[in-house]
Amino acid sequence: MNFCYFLLLAAITSCQPVSKDAADTAGNKAAAEDSSRLQEHLSPAGKDSAGKSPPDSTLILGKKIYDSYCLACHQSDGNGVPGMYPPLTDTAWLADEEKLIEIVLEGLSGSITVNGKTYNQMMPTHNFLKDKEIASVLSYVRYTFGDNKDYILPEEVSARREN
Ligand code: HEC
Repeated sequence: MNFCYFLLLAAITSCQPVSKDAADTAGNKAAAEDSSRLQEHLSPAGKDSAGKSPPDSTLILGKKIYDSYCLACHQSDGNGVPGMYPPLTDTAWLADEEKLIEIVLEGLSGSITVNGKTYNQMMPTHNFLKDKEIASVLSYVRYTFGDNKDYILPEEVSARREN
């Protein structure tokens, strides 16, 4: 445990001077600060270096959002409804972070294959959810139904929204 803290501390202290320099030299200071902060979050060292699970607060908010906005179709166990709503357990779908964020922001339609079965329905957009809510619900889904510890941050959702 102590060793993990040490790693975390080392990561934080080694990141700080870099982001400060970047901000000082760039013409647009604010933008540079923003993007270096984002890089820190996105780098594996800032997020999942010791194979840690998502923070409890993320999982708690994620479950709340899931129960309110996803459960009706994908069911409480994430197994969906055969022929109608696909399960959220296919590791290939869960691995594609960009696609997951896009599905929640834009919805999904057309023929897809999940766990070897074909679905051709329509998922509505959920772009009314906040960045933090989307990041949390996707982290919850990945972790709970797919045993995938690599969690998603609100910054990654906002970056996708701006594109
Ligand atoms: C009204 C029903 C409905 C709701 C609510 C809904 N979905 Fe979906 N979802 C679908 C359908 C239908 C598809 C498949 C669309 C297709 O056939 O192209 C899908 C596909 C997906 C997929 C990609 C395929 C897979 O199974 O991995 C993900 C991921 C997903 N939904 C996540 C979510 C999340 C997270 C929420 C809540 C924020 C949510 N969905 C809410 C109906 C829904």
